[in-house]
Amino acid sequence: MAIEWFPGHMVTARKMVAEAMRDTDVVIEVLDARVPRSSSNPALEKLRRQRQRPALKVLNKSDLADPTLTQRWLAFYNAQPGVRAIAVSCKHPREVTRIPEEALRLVPGREGSTRPFRMMILGIPNVGKSTLMNTLVKRQVSKVGNEPAVTRTLLDHAVGKNAWLTDTPGMLWPGIDQRAALKLAISHSIGQNAYDDDAVGVELAADLLEHYPDLLVQRFGALPDACDQHGLISVIARVRGLMVKGGAPDLVKAARVLLNEFRSGTLGRITLERPGSEPPSPERQSTEPPSE
Ligand code: G4P
Repeated sequence: MAIEWFPGHMVTARKMVAEAMRDTDVVIEVLDARVPRSSSNPALEKLRRQRQRPALKVLNKSDLADPTLTQRWLAFYNAQPGVRAIAVSCKHPREVTRIPEEALRLVPGREGSTRPFRMMILGIPNVGKSTLMNTLVKRQVSKVGNEPAVTRTLLDHAVGKNAWLTDTPGMLWPGIDQRAALKLAISHSIGQNAYDDDAVGVELAADLLEHYPDLLVQRFGALPDACDQHGLISVIARVRGLMVKGGAPDLVKAARVLLNEFRSGTLGRITLERPGSEPPSPERQSTEPPSE
């Protein structure tokens, strides 16, 4: 199954972002703390580096992510020149409201300047950018929804005295590498019609068996010896009484249960990526160092 999802309005948006970045002091990149690598748009990261703009990497949804791995990701990003990283959860507005002052720290000597401080916020769909914007701007400016790609135009918002934040639509990139696409399908950043839940659920099952077997046992009971990803989906179908006509396990519904319980955090705090754990894909080669 190859996943490709790059709706037409994202092409226009990418051009608008390239133009607006010229006037931007700091780029705020919202990442999903459960998939920090895959939720970073390599095309926009490349553009930011070309324009030599500092970045505040905001690892959002940290309430759903594995806290130990979040700390490792923060250390990984904070070691990069011109980059600061913080972890937040939109469920805790106070963590979000410190974003502008954290961004200002990336431009030493800028505090107190009469020149307007301009930030631009970037993020792929469903990382929580709209929720975050609504908290920052203190009113409803963006529609929040679990279906990706809701915001469609660039808008400037005042965020405190003499500071401006340019909002941008959630953007993916063409030719997305399949490792990233699977992670983004799991975390619900890719539109539902671009993949099959059962195939994506099996990928999630394999990852959880490798890294979080205890959480699976807590949730679904003891697993058979040498249980593989397909075995896990069958166990979930049995435990939850999900059958197709004739009494065979309903593997599609069971895969959806696993995906939904991961996405909502019901399974526990889980992160699907580790810094430096895999060689960068060709699209990320110029933006990610190979190891920690
Ligand atoms: P986007 O603009 O980047 O596309 O994302 P959006 O703000 O629409 O958020 C997508 C979903 O993620 C929403 O869930 C939102 O509530 C949830 N979300 C955003 N930030 C966080 C966070 O820090 N932690 C958690 N746990 N969830 C977050 P939804 O299901 O559409 O709505 P809701 O039922 O959660 O309100």
